[in-house]
Amino acid sequence: MKILVTGGAGYIGSHTCVELLNSGYETVIVDNLYNSSSKAVERIETITQKKPVFYKVDLLDKTSLDSVFAKEKPDAVIHFAGLKAVGESVEKPIQYYYNNLTGTLNLVDCMKNHKVKNIIFSSSATVYGDPAFVPITEDCPKGSPTNPYGWTKWMIEQILTDLHTSDPGWNVILLRYFNPIGAHESGLIGEDPKGIPNNLVPYVAQVAIGKRDCLNVFGDDYNTHDGTGVRDYIHVMDLATGHVKAIEKFSEKSEVRIYNLGTGKGCSVLDILHAYEKACGHNIPYEIKPRRAGDVDASYSECNKAKKELGWEAKYNVDDMCTDSWRWQSMNPDGYGQS
Ligand code: NAD
Ligand code: UD1
Repeated sequence: MKILVTGGAGYIGSHTCVELLNSGYETVIVDNLYNSSSKAVERIETITQKKPVFYKVDLLDKTSLDSVFAKEKPDAVIHFAGLKAVGESVEKPIQYYYNNLTGTLNLVDCMKNHKVKNIIFSSSATVYGDPAFVPITEDCPKGSPTNPYGWTKWMIEQILTDLHTSDPGWNVILLRYFNPIGAHESGLIGEDPKGIPNNLVPYVAQVAIGKRDCLNVFGDDYNTHDGTGVRDYIHVMDLATGHVKAIEKFSEKSEVRIYNLGTGKGCSVLDILHAYEKACGHNIPYEIKPRRAGDVDASYSECNKAKKELGWEAKYNVDDMCTDSWRWQSMNPDGYGQS
């Protein structure tokens, strides 16, 4: 079976390509490298000893995208490609809506033209907004995202659902990720944020390696066990295997299926900080700062549906995640840039 992976050179995409190739799937990556490096593609090959086919193509360039479909004739698509920086999406909403929505519309139109009707989409727990309850089940009502990035996830879920309504032959799987962190155990691929990291673990990693002075902890007065925000951190390799398991659903009746991918365990900012200190072997300085706008007290998943229907559950804990993140960070202090 041949899988076309949009955004396959990116953080989650590259780890998923490793799992796809190791599981025997032919893998075709389409990525414009806007937020990634061709080195990630080379390293996927180093890890798996199998070469993924790679096209440097922008989803906004529909003609080139269509030729990839004509040439490769994939059986299914995993759609990671998109812009994902929450703060930037508030400043540049047009860029975010244009890239994420138009990119997806071009993709599904090409899929339709080439009769490919199997798609897995990278959604996010952000679609739950301030969740109505925790742990969050897939039945929890979608909420109001607090930023354009989150709305693009919300809207793309709707677009793909409408597509299935228009033609029940579409097999749509919406995977709602919680907080992916960590890296492949080889230390060869990992998260390589450009500029100042927005997310917690990449920031902690850069403090640990000495590139930044101190972690700003956004708020210590949340309704959680230590007052700092609680999230459901999941190892990126667990996330990758979740995608491989989801592909098996394409052989069943076509439907819109929704799964949370998380561990079901909530971890605070300080829990992560201390786990990272253990992983890197020294203290990590931090300061308590005011809350960050749009943050919620706690967000973590109920994972029974994915366990029951996909036969998937996360196997790595937060110590594993921090150990693997630190290995990547210390082996590649400048990410793919100058390593
Ligand atoms: P990433 O930025 O590392 O990967 C996204 C990839 O898409 C990049 O390689 C980028 O170059 C590519 N891309 C963007 N726009 C493109 C376009 N128009 N044409 C072709 N390629 C394009 O991000 P990631 O962390 O790997 O996230 C992958 C997906 O998962 C995204 O859709 C993201 O929104 C979603 N997601 C991520 C998280 C997270 O915490 N990382 C959480 C929930 C959901
Ligand atoms: C954020 C996005 C979410 C997106 C996800 C993955 C917001 C409101 N949500 O999730 O839409 O899907 O990233 O890209 O931005 N923290 C600090 N100091 C830091 C960074 C973070 O204390 O320097 C805290 C935050 O306040 C939060 C926790 O760490 O409590 C996790 O933050 P982060 O990694 O940004 O993820 P989310 O906010 O859960």
